[in-house]
Amino acid sequence: MIWILLVLAFMFSWHLLNAFSVSVPKEKYKTHYGSNVTMECTFPVGEKLDLNALTVYWDKEGKFLVKFVDGEEDLKIQKSNSRLRHLNDQLYKGKSLLHITNVTVKDAGAYRCIIGYGGADYKWITLTVNAPYNKINQRIKMDPVTSEYEITCQSEGYPKAEVIWKSRDQDLSSKATVTYSVGTEKLFNITSTLRVNATVNESFQCLFQERDTGKNISAQIVIPDNYASTKTASRTYFGTLGAVIFLGLILMLQSFRKKHVRMIAKEKNYLST
Ligand SMILES: *[C@@H]1O[C@H](CO)[C@@H](O)[C@H](O)[C@H]1NC(C)=O
Ligand SMILES: *[C@@H]1O[C@H](CO)[C@@H](O)[C@H](O)[C@H]1NC(C)=O
Ligand SMILES: *[C@@H]1O[C@H](CO)[C@@H](O)[C@H](O)[C@H]1NC(C)=O
Ligand SMILES: *[C@@H]1O[C@H](CO)[C@@H](O)[C@H](O)[C@H]1NC(C)=O
Ligand SMILES: *[C@@H]1O[C@H](CO)[C@@H](O)[C@H](O)[C@H]1NC(C)=O
Ligand SMILES: *[C@@H]1O[C@H](CO)[C@@H](O)[C@H](O)[C@H]1NC(C)=O
Repeated sequence: MIWILLVLAFMFSWHLLNAFSVSVPKEKYKTHYGSNVTMECTFPVGEKLDLNALTVYWDKEGKFLVKFVDGEEDLKIQKSNSRLRHLNDQLYKGKSLLHITNVTVKDAGAYRCIIGYGGADYKWITLTVNAPYNKINQRIKMDPVTSEYEITCQSEGYPKAEVIWKSRDQDLSSKATVTYSVGTEKLFNITSTLRVNATVNESFQCLFQERDTGKNISAQIVIPDNYASTKTASRTYFGTLGAVIFLGLILMLQSFRKKHVRMIAKEKNYLST
């Protein structure tokens, strides 16, 4: 933190001496979790860039991300986050590009590029990251005592979303219980459970609604033809499995017999010679 203040103080004194300005083609970047992003600051280079006269810093939340001084980058900083790269080969075009691969929610925030080249200046860039609730896991359970169904939808994303339940255009959201937790990647893990009386083939919809955009990602759940059918399904499965094992045993026994017969035949040959 103190280093950033010192750098800024030094750069600012420089700024007073020379009119030099950094600009940003884009102040706000919005990207998806897992994608790549390249943030850009530009500065005037004149005829030809003198790398030794150039100083570039990028910082975020009190920490340096890039330190490029006297034509050399401090690679120690780079090593602490391997997903981050300063594209040094673009500097001669007057571009300082910070490339982040496989963006995570933690990368969101305010970035600052500080550039010194004759004069000095800095600009802020904000990065927002969202992770759509693309994969909705679902589960249906029936309470054997009350015959009530418990339908669950679970998904992970960012930012926090609202879960809406619908059936035949009726809003059932008030009957659902929802739990939120935050995982290691700062993603929200949302589990919503609806408890209802339902009949076979009745369909339900859970919608994960993003608060900022109002966009919905939904899943459809149809009440299956009761649990007896899934039981018979598993019985036929085990039936088939049993048949396969039985057939395998027969085949093994047969080949064993053949070998045995051949061995006896060989022995006979041996004895007769
Ligand atoms: C992200 O960048 C990495 C390395 O630069 C590259 O290998 C990968 O293909 C890129 N991914 C996408 C989605 O562009
Ligand atoms: C991206 O990051 C996630 C979580 O940090 C990881 O599981 C995944 O393997 C990474 N993908 C690539 C292409 O590096
Ligand atoms: C999300 O939460 C549910 C229920 O709280 C839990 O069973 C599940 O393992 C969690 N998933 C992840 C990826 O953390
Ligand atoms: C299901 O129906 C029974 C009997 O009508 C009722 O007591 C119960 O509250 C209902 N359950 C739900 C979740 O609506
Ligand atoms: C549910 O739907 C399936 C296929 O559409 C149909 O064969 C079955 O008879 C239906 N069951 C009930 C109880 O309506
Ligand atoms: C998402 O679903 C909600 C509830 O059904 C609805 O009010 C809203 O208009 C939907 N948003 C979009 C973008 O379709």
